[in-house]
Amino acid sequence: MPLAVLISGAGSNMLAIADACRSGQINARVALVIADVPTAGGIARAQALGLGTTVVDRRAFQSAGKPDRAAFENALAAAIDASGAGLVVLAGFMRVLSGNFVARYSGRMLNIHPSLLPRYKGLDTHARVLAAGDHEHGVSVHFVTADLDGGPLIAQAPVPVLPGDNLASLSARVHAREYIIYPMVIEWLTRGRLQWNLGSPTLDGKPLTAPVLLR
Ligand code: GRF
Repeated sequence: MPLAVLISGAGSNMLAIADACRSGQINARVALVIADVPTAGGIARAQALGLGTTVVDRRAFQSAGKPDRAAFENALAAAIDASGAGLVVLAGFMRVLSGNFVARYSGRMLNIHPSLLPRYKGLDTHARVLAAGDHEHGVSVHFVTADLDGGPLIAQAPVPVLPGDNLASLSARVHAREYIIYPMVIEWLTRGRLQWNLGSPTLDGKPLTAPVLLR
């Protein structure tokens, strides 16, 4: 299955997914890596692997001096669709997508979020976990819906918060889990084990009433 991987930053999850495709762990290929900012470091990293890349620069889409989200999303959808992608993989993509855009890829768009959702939706999850003094952090992979960080959960992996942790150490531990859980969920979907069923996902034919927990 061709994948479109959307990034805004370093793209380390994108690399883990590309690796999993190359090794055959995932029955898929990265058809296109798309960044919404020209500064996304992941673009050069994808090019170094020979992957197709494009930048759909959100700041280039303005109307009367204001961001034109509809025009940006139209360009994004055009790039995704031209790539032939059957699955849209958000991997550190830092834009909130409209309901219209999300509906277009309903059941065909995944996101990874660095927290045990529904805890810590939104930004700066590592800092918030540290500030709260939590002993447990984690990673969630979910289907994308119009509900920000609120679509049906597929899998979660807890990550311990250790004494002396700082942003860098905690973030590195979370990332290491992300590189395992995201390719795994993509593999379930590309092999048809994971199905959307109009918003009531199933795994191996059974309703996903709770996310699969990876310890
Ligand atoms: C990851 O922690 C991901 O969960 C979050 O953004 C980060 C992206 O990192 N949505 P990278 O660009 O994949 O290195």
